[in-house]
Amino acid sequence: MNLYRIAVLPGDGIGKEVTPVGLKALEAAGEATSTFRCEFESYDWGSEYYLRHGRMMPAEALEILQRYDALYFGAIGLPGSVPDHVTLWEFLLPIRKGFQQFINIRPCHLLPGLKSPLRDKGPQEIDFICVRENSEGEYSGAGGRVHLHTEDEVAVQTSIFTRRAVERVLRYGFELSRARPKKRLVSATKSNAMQYGMVFWDEVFLEVARDYPEVHAEKQHVDALAARFVTHPETLDVVVGSNLFADILTDLGGALMGSLGMAPSANLNPEGAYPSMFEPVHGSAPDIAGKGIANPIAMVWSAALMLDHLGEKEAAGLVMRAIEDLVLEGRVLTPDLGGTAATNQVGESLVEKILR
Ligand code: NAI
Ligand code: MG
Repeated sequence: MNLYRIAVLPGDGIGKEVTPVGLKALEAAGEATSTFRCEFESYDWGSEYYLRHGRMMPAEALEILQRYDALYFGAIGLPGSVPDHVTLWEFLLPIRKGFQQFINIRPCHLLPGLKSPLRDKGPQEIDFICVRENSEGEYSGAGGRVHLHTEDEVAVQTSIFTRRAVERVLRYGFELSRARPKKRLVSATKSNAMQYGMVFWDEVFLEVARDYPEVHAEKQHVDALAARFVTHPETLDVVVGSNLFADILTDLGGALMGSLGMAPSANLNPEGAYPSMFEPVHGSAPDIAGKGIANPIAMVWSAALMLDHLGEKEAAGLVMRAIEDLVLEGRVLTPDLGGTAATNQVGESLVEKILR
């Protein structure tokens, strides 16, 4: 039996509500398959930790986390108490960058039984994967502010695109695309307006595309691509985008899936030098936090991505089938999906299905 050491980072708001559901699903999958066991260690880092200690996580956090096989993360953010750029830049981004989790996988699949806000599109039409560049681009953190609090105040935020990072994310997208039946890839660009970074991105795209003649590859300006998500999602299979572009597109993707509470993600260090991190696309949802009604499916789906990454294919399949059965039955759903169930009721139902 395999043993996995998992660092658990529930974070803030609904992160703390959906994480326990994900852990129960993982335990149930281990029990059902008898192929593995997880050892969880939970860390209370995040905004409340910040209010007590003046920092989002301890200085040695990355050294601590590095010892684990994978990281399982809920969400952070406590707007009103801690500025969002502090939560992001002192917690999430240091982990993604520090552990070179340069690929962010975000499946966008409408499950049968759920209604998309798109009137005429069903599970056949909404079924693709976004691959987000996760280490640089618009979120490089390069920039500064000068002449603070004067009339001459200036803010500069620079996007950084390196050949290494652009090539590896595009190559990852092409490899993924090649293994899928449709073999279609769209690269999100904006090279009409961004004549340095995005023209460079397009050049690297053309170079990498040459190595994959079997993949039908195209580039599209991200604004038009956003419209295509809505009008022709059935023409999408693998979408590769920069850090900012794919961040925005995947919240739209979450909406297409019926709720942002459905959308899972995986921050991968494909080389395995550092642990990868699995988290829902959504944030801490302060508007519903504390009510016990957050949809835990994105968190549980992210656990399935983690099991898949760890090589536990059977367990990952069990978790996914439990989610699919639950939404197809449509009896135990949270309010975002039109139901009346609480977070823990969805959790109990999922665990029961995994064990069945
Ligand atoms: P959000 O994703 O937290 O919420 C957007 C909307 O979706 C809200 O109406 C919320 O109620 C709903 N929603 C999200 N997840 C849901 C779920 N599981 N079940 C039901 N409804 C759900 O985004 P928002 O409001 O922009 O950000 C709130 C905080 O989260 C901010 O502090 C932000 O910086 C942070 N954030 C953190 C992220 C992370 O930790 N990875 C990602 C995005 C935002
Ligand atoms: Mg986002």
